[in-house]
Amino acid sequence: MKDLGMNLALSAEEKSLLELITPELVKIGKDRSKLIPILQLIQEKLAYLPGEAIHMVADHLSISPSEVYGVATFYNQFRFNPPGRNPVKVCLGTACHVKGGDIILENFERKLDIKEGQTTPDREFSIERVACVGCCALAPVTVVGQTVHGHMQPSKVEGLVLRARIEREKQQREKQKNESSE
Ligand code: FES
Repeated sequence: MKDLGMNLALSAEEKSLLELITPELVKIGKDRSKLIPILQLIQEKLAYLPGEAIHMVADHLSISPSEVYGVATFYNQFRFNPPGRNPVKVCLGTACHVKGGDIILENFERKLDIKEGQTTPDREFSIERVACVGCCALAPVTVVGQTVHGHMQPSKVEGLVLRARIEREKQQREKQKNESSE
């Protein structure tokens, strides 16, 4: 069962993106058969389907939000939480599963205090399980952000999270420095 999450408030940018979608919905029309294309459009713009969007679509098509949820959760293509700035993708393809990929997943879940499919409240990390990422010789594999980490061990999880946080702080400090020097 997918975790719907939806506990994270929309950012200002997401709010305005959602507002921009309203005229597009009018163009698409109110035929119920347009539900999937509408959900795809929203996910394309926002990278996920926030609760507000589900309600907006329900209103537009005059159906209940639970019906929209029901259809959206049926398809694997839809996500209900924003991707974190550092998406953690734990490979659970056969080779990685055999080498303990599920233990790696559990460790990330414990360390970040979220479950697979969720995003941390600061939107720094999200966790998802993925099928083979194509480097089975390195199993078990986890991709954090853009970086592939092979031969993962539970003991490496904390270090990877810490490194990503430090990197983020560094970027923020540089951004602030640049802004104050402008
Ligand atoms: S199964 Fe994980 S990389 Fe192939």
